[in-house]
Amino acid sequence: MTQSTDQLIMPPMPWRSVFLGSGAMTPSRIVTNVELETMMDTSDAWIQERTGIAQRAIAGPLETTASLGAEAARRALANASVSPDAIDLIICATATPDRTFPATAALIQADLGIPVAIAFDVQAVCSGFVYAMSVADAMLASGQAKTALVIGAETFSRILDWSDRTTAVLFGDGAGAMVLGAVASAQAGSRGVLAHALRADGRQADLLYVDGGPSQGGRIGKLKMQGQAVFRHAVGNISEAISACCEKAGVKVSDIDWFVPHQANRRILDGVARRMGLDDHKVVTTVHQHGNTSAASVPLAFEVARQDGRICDGDLVLLEAMGGGFTWGASLIRL
Ligand code: ACO
Repeated sequence: MTQSTDQLIMPPMPWRSVFLGSGAMTPSRIVTNVELETMMDTSDAWIQERTGIAQRAIAGPLETTASLGAEAARRALANASVSPDAIDLIICATATPDRTFPATAALIQADLGIPVAIAFDVQAVCSGFVYAMSVADAMLASGQAKTALVIGAETFSRILDWSDRTTAVLFGDGAGAMVLGAVASAQAGSRGVLAHALRADGRQADLLYVDGGPSQGGRIGKLKMQGQAVFRHAVGNISEAISACCEKAGVKVSDIDWFVPHQANRRILDGVARRMGLDDHKVVTTVHQHGNTSAASVPLAFEVARQDGRICDGDLVLLEAMGGGFTWGASLIRL
């Protein structure tokens, strides 16, 4: 399955996509575990012990996936010193779009006043940002666009069954964004997006899904998960994708400066770190403050570590995620 695509030899691309800037946005409303205790039969101790989560941000009535995504993108553009006029590709990774259509990316485009560009959504649930990075990288490297906004934005609070304590305590809302630009490969030096390893196994769809949709039932539906079964797959899948991504880029896992994992559960992060022999201090962990924000989780965590001065220019950074589908994967980037 995976080996055949990994072993494809691609001709050298004239362009390399490089990181230009990043931004993030979370709703101001913070819901702590202690507040959840007043809403359902749960406890701060249970949630912290099983997941590492202490709080999550929840969107207010006027906040949507597109509004959070647009603010994260606005901040990323400012950070990159790139004008909205320069953007010719917008990819938004989300499983909770504002509308069935048009794409959330198009709504964000309109909000930011970006002129005619390519804009579409990627739906790979929690792995969405890593998938979107790979698509943006391919389009920049092949010359289809010059400057891309890659956004992960979610309002999972809207698809939670708030009477189901086994899932409601796990998720939060938010958005993160990166600006990538195409530079001539000859000029990129060691910088740039170096490799991706993406996987999906649709046979596992029933372990984590939403029981609704436009073509099945005609309603939005609520999230359903067999948590222990998901857990059993997570560590092995993520570890394999990390190894494959490093192999493609010709780097050792020990060469990586920062691991920015999807923030699903502290125990999954620890399990991957143990299996891969990662230094704990190199693993960016924000699950305690954000919970699981699905496609927003990786760029949100990335932004926290960039803002606090951990992730710096020149660093080798690995992004990884796993989510419903199952989908999973990793991307490697030298800032
Ligand atoms: N508060 C208190 N008790 C709870 C809660 C809660 N919120 N939820 C479940 N329980 C109870 C259960 O009812 C059960 O009680 P019982 O023994 O009386 O029947 C007990 O706690 C144990 O339940 P388990 O489901 O066995 O708990 P487990 O240790 O497996 O932890 C969890 C559940 C945290 C969901 C775990 O399975 C997990 O982390 N799975 C990974 C899934 C994940 O992270 N998914 C995120 C999306 S996928 C992704 O992003 C990778």
